[in-house]
Amino acid sequence: MNRSALEEVAHTLGARGKGILAADESTPTISKRLAAVGVESSPEINNAYRDVLLTAPGLERSISGVIFFEETLRQATIGRAVPYPDHLKALGIIPGIKVDKGAKMLAGSSREKVTEGLDGLRERFATYNELGARFAKWRAVIAIEGDAIPSRNALQVNAHALARYAALAQEAGLVPICEPEVLMDGTHSIARAFEVTEAAIKSVYLALHEQGVLLEGTVLKPNMVMSGYDGSEKAGTDEVAAKTLECLKRCVPAAVPSIVFLSGGQTEIEATTHLNRINEMKDAACPWNLSFSFGRALQQTALSTWAGDSSRIPDAQRALLHRARCSGLATTGEYSESVEAGGATAS
Ligand code: 13P
Repeated sequence: MNRSALEEVAHTLGARGKGILAADESTPTISKRLAAVGVESSPEINNAYRDVLLTAPGLERSISGVIFFEETLRQATIGRAVPYPDHLKALGIIPGIKVDKGAKMLAGSSREKVTEGLDGLRERFATYNELGARFAKWRAVIAIEGDAIPSRNALQVNAHALARYAALAQEAGLVPICEPEVLMDGTHSIARAFEVTEAAIKSVYLALHEQGVLLEGTVLKPNMVMSGYDGSEKAGTDEVAAKTLECLKRCVPAAVPSIVFLSGGQTEIEATTHLNRINEMKDAACPWNLSFSFGRALQQTALSTWAGDSSRIPDAQRALLHRARCSGLATTGEYSESVEAGGATAS
């Protein structure tokens, strides 16, 4: 493990003005996203769609890294057949890889999940390193249901798996992004989301410490602290930003260089507005880069614009570049309604 290389990547992924494009939808998830715009997923179609995203001209202006699903890590640009990791590296964008095998039902529970994928991970990491990946992602899924869920056990087993993954990633020279995602589905209050997010992140840092993970060479990918989507009372932008920062200050050591938020089903504008307010409100007690690792909040409009029609590629790319630019500006608190209204033409 080369400590300074890990630190450099972990810092660069969240560097001012930039963030991560999460384009690592698993086969079932990309099938669902494509079906929603009337396109049937296959390795070739997935390649064509990812090509629209990854060859958008000027992507590197606001994107520091891209997370691939393994299929894409092994694919190449449609035009010149350049392997995607090489294509990104030439642009100064860092290639990454989702390595978990998804969340499965936790034994003994009918409602909680634990993420799988540790078996054989050391060998897979060696291959991913050879293919050019420099960072990795593992997502744990924490649901909120009443006062009893998540259970202490679900938090602990997910944190333990995240730490085992993180230690293996660093051993192989890749920066681990640790993603303990507290879902926003449900009717819970923002206070309950705060309590669960705090418990989830604290469990992760305890496990990372116990398993000897170098925090300076890691990135945290958390949810923003928000009310449940189906609740009657929705916290506004200021409260989401304030609670998110308060929670992170309680849980995340200063040694961590970058925190990159997932969008988790927020609209594109909602996710960008929240990130912008978070960066406006952060203070000296927030030493980390506060950036994004959005999937849907970068891709939604691009995907529906493309919808399998190659004549729409330039428009789809403009839509992606606009979202990337807006999100990049939100990392410095410079996003605004007028930037948003500039639309795809401004990028
Ligand atoms: P969303 O931003 O769509 O939540 O996806 C980010 C991600 O990588 C979830 O694991």
